[in-house]
Amino acid sequence: MAKFHKHILVCTHERAVGNSRGCCLHSDGEKVLEAFRKWIADHGFRRMIRANRSGCLDQCAKGSVVVVYPDNVWYGGVKPSDVPKIMQEHVLGGRLVENLQIPDVELTGIPLDNPSIEGENAGPAAPL
Ligand code: FES
Repeated sequence: MAKFHKHILVCTHERAVGNSRGCCLHSDGEKVLEAFRKWIADHGFRRMIRANRSGCLDQCAKGSVVVVYPDNVWYGGVKPSDVPKIMQEHVLGGRLVENLQIPDVELTGIPLDNPSIEGENAGPAAPL
């Protein structure tokens, strides 16, 4: 059986209104997920591309957050209206949607010229 071609994770994590970290649910996360699922179904890709709900991806201030695997490309500030562009340009066309991409260095805080995960960079992430 063939593997899925792409896997799209969409954060729909919710926090209380007023929480300083914010959350993707209040940034249209659920609507973004549904837009991906509808686009995939409408275009006949259900057996090739999956869009799944995700918990917090630790980029909360940049919601809605979307990750495309296996490419390991992260997008932030995604709205339902961005879904056709991500699907057509990136998922099908292989071209990044640069205006929505979260730079790699912002994901981890680890400088690109020192990608070590040893020492002070090691350890558990902050609690949710
Ligand atoms: S709530 Fe979506 S990344 Fe944290």
